Amino acid sequence: MGVYEHIKQKFVMPNAYNDWSKYREQVTKLIIKDVNKDIVGYESVKTGVVTTTMKPVYREDMSIAILGAGACNDFDLLELSQHFDRITLIDVDMESMQKAIEWMPEILKERINLVKGSLTGITNEDQKTFCDDILFRVSEYGNSMTPEKFSVFLIHELKRLEKKMYTHEDQLVEAGLLPVGGYDVVVCIGVCSQLMSMLSYIINVITANLTGQLFQGKAPDNRAVFTYIKGMNSKIVPIINSAILKCSNEKAVFGNEYDEHHPVEGAYQCIIDLKTRLGLHMTEEHLTWNFNPGKNVEYDMLIQMV
Ligand SMILES: C[S@@+](CC[C@H](N)C(=O)[O-])C[C@H]1O[C@@H](n2cnc3c(N)ncnc32)[C@H](O)[C@@H]1O
Repeated sequence: MGVYEHIKQKFVMPNAYNDWSKYREQVTKLIIKDVNKDIVGYESVKTGVVTTTMKPVYREDMSIAILGAGACNDFDLLELSQHFDRITLIDVDMESMQKAIEWMPEILKERINLVKGSLTGITNEDQKTFCDDILFRVSEYGNSMTPEKFSVFLIHELKRLEKKMYTHEDQLVEAGLLPVGGYDVVVCIGVCSQLMSMLSYIINVITANLTGQLFQGKAPDNRAVFTYIKGMNSKIVPIINSAILKCSNEKAVFGNEYDEHHPVEGAYQCIIDLKTRLGLHMTEEHLTWNFNPGKNVEYDMLIQMV
């Protein structure tokens, strides 16, 4: 297994389905709250020998898109299928989505569309190349690589990667991910904090190894590197939010880790972006996400519904 694959495995939460059951129930309730199927007509139904009553006929094409659906642990697909006729799951990780729905009856699977795509434009393959390139360059430089050179080099690599990042919301439309007016409801929960998290993790793992093996215990000062990643989040999150708001006809549900004192990278950019948009009619709720009970990790999730 390569370094990238090894790092990627660290992001798998094997007990998430059980651990998150209460959170999943609460998230699902918020997604379907106030989503009502429109009445498209009435049909007469016989209620007696000579009596009939008029029964409403509801829309049968209600749609929902779940961004960063991954292993489908934080929403209840069965419950959602009672309310939505078409369900689209979008994630960079196709394998997780496929696994998540493999147990479902065919009749339900037919209504679920899996889409592999990146909301940032940066794919898993791009991240793997980023990781491989760093390792290759480090081995090429050998002993002449210093902690100072390493930090400068990381920023250079990030700038190269950033060229792949979307710069306008229309690109998310062109990529077929978030068509304008494409869905009745769009959900984006727990995703913004993850957009660049793999990059940070790759950098931390490689830096720690080099500090021990090559830099004689002198850790590189990577502050400028992480400021650069912050900048990438600050650019891409408002672009994704704009695309989501244009894509959802009835409701958009955003959910992010909320921590006033230690803002979570990516999450706080999303929260602030939504709070500072003019003219958005938004309601907010807080949920506790018991993310990893074994390690006592839980998040205060701010759910913003537009
Ligand atoms: C913390 S998980 C959210 C919880 C997930 N829905 C579940 O139930 O397990 C974040 C998800 O965002 C996905 N993700 C990360 N970066 C992405 C990107 N650029 N585009 C689309 N999805 C992304 C990850 O693959 C992961 O499935």
